[in-house]
Amino acid sequence: MKNGLEDVVAAETQLSDVDGEAGRLIIRGVSLDDLVADSTYERTATLLLDGLMPEALDEASLTRRLGEARADIFRHVEAADATILALPPVDAMRALLARLPDGEGSPVAIRLMAASAVFLPAVLRLQKGRAPIAPDQKLSQSADMLQMLNGTPPSGEQTSALDAYLVTISDHGLNASTFASRVIASTQAGLTSSVLAAISALKGPLHGGAPGPVLDMLDAIGQAENAETWLGNALDKGERLMGFGHRIYRVRDPRADALKNALKPLTATGQVDSARVALAEAVEGAALSILKRRKPDRPLDVNVEFYTALLLETLGFPREAFTGVFAIGRTVGWIAHAREQALQGRLIRPRSVYVGPLPKAA
Ligand code: ACO
Repeated sequence: MKNGLEDVVAAETQLSDVDGEAGRLIIRGVSLDDLVADSTYERTATLLLDGLMPEALDEASLTRRLGEARADIFRHVEAADATILALPPVDAMRALLARLPDGEGSPVAIRLMAASAVFLPAVLRLQKGRAPIAPDQKLSQSADMLQMLNGTPPSGEQTSALDAYLVTISDHGLNASTFASRVIASTQAGLTSSVLAAISALKGPLHGGAPGPVLDMLDAIGQAENAETWLGNALDKGERLMGFGHRIYRVRDPRADALKNALKPLTATGQVDSARVALAEAVEGAALSILKRRKPDRPLDVNVEFYTALLLETLGFPREAFTGVFAIGRTVGWIAHAREQALQGRLIRPRSVYVGPLPKAA
């Protein structure tokens, strides 16, 4: 029995492979670097869903259907009442998604992918007392999300950066939320139930809830020269440094570099706070050297959440919404895994070892 199920193989998948020793991520036969260099959200979604839906989906039809679904789903934003809007953004998004019907086919899958992209920007605006902005179905999912969030058409660099983010985090082996999605799919409950369970797993700080705290850490450090002392004090208190460490990667998380690179066109065109990037790089360097000294037996390197924080902040997302944006990108991965499980898998039903008291002998 392993408490965290590490090294337990619980599924066979054609979707993605995480090689933690080599620091390599493959998504459907394509390395992450190649995928990010040459893909959009829609193209990656087509790749992930290939062969898993009852009908063939090409990039053009998926793009068109996602646009139509965003336009259609916008009417559901009306359901965001005061109770829902009092919740953290990812919980409000989950509450709105929970109102959608369950099912297995591509209409349900595409509606879920579109709905999360519409609900989060709408919730964020409503929570600030601003009117939600209707989707523009002619735009790509990334461009439309940014327009619905900020109220202005995004630049090409901003759209590409969000595409790079959504592609980078689209799938990642059998992580906690993907496992949750597959467990639900194995009971044949439906894709909406799988996605809701996955979001619930994702929101924890040990999974997708870390990028907001990364910015809190940068704010608390303030200046590069404070990094060493601040980080040392945090470790003295037994705290974990947010944005560092990973269950699988024993080297640098390849997604961290994909996102660091995605920031470069924005930096080159003056669309990013260069002082913020410089501070992050200084904190990264200080954290790596202090973790090496303090935890010599445990290889700890930067993970995806560190540069996620900088990228999403640059694009205008508030930190409390970062987990929700992660969910928008990962939804297609959850759906692909749920479909794979439903098509090939059995009901997931592991066993536990009972270590409690035995009934008294008569
Ligand atoms: N800072 C300081 N120490 C750390 C960190 C960290 N970020 N990560 C792991 N360690 C230490 C642990 O304290 C532990 O040391 P100890 O035995 O002396 O207490 C040792 O490394 C092993 O830790 P585990 O808990 O076994 O590592 P695990 O594989 O379970 O944890 C996790 C992975 C949860 C990501 C962890 O590294 C962490 O908490 N990181 C910070 C939060 C974070 O960045 N989360 C986002 C992860 S990426 C994602 O899920 C999308």
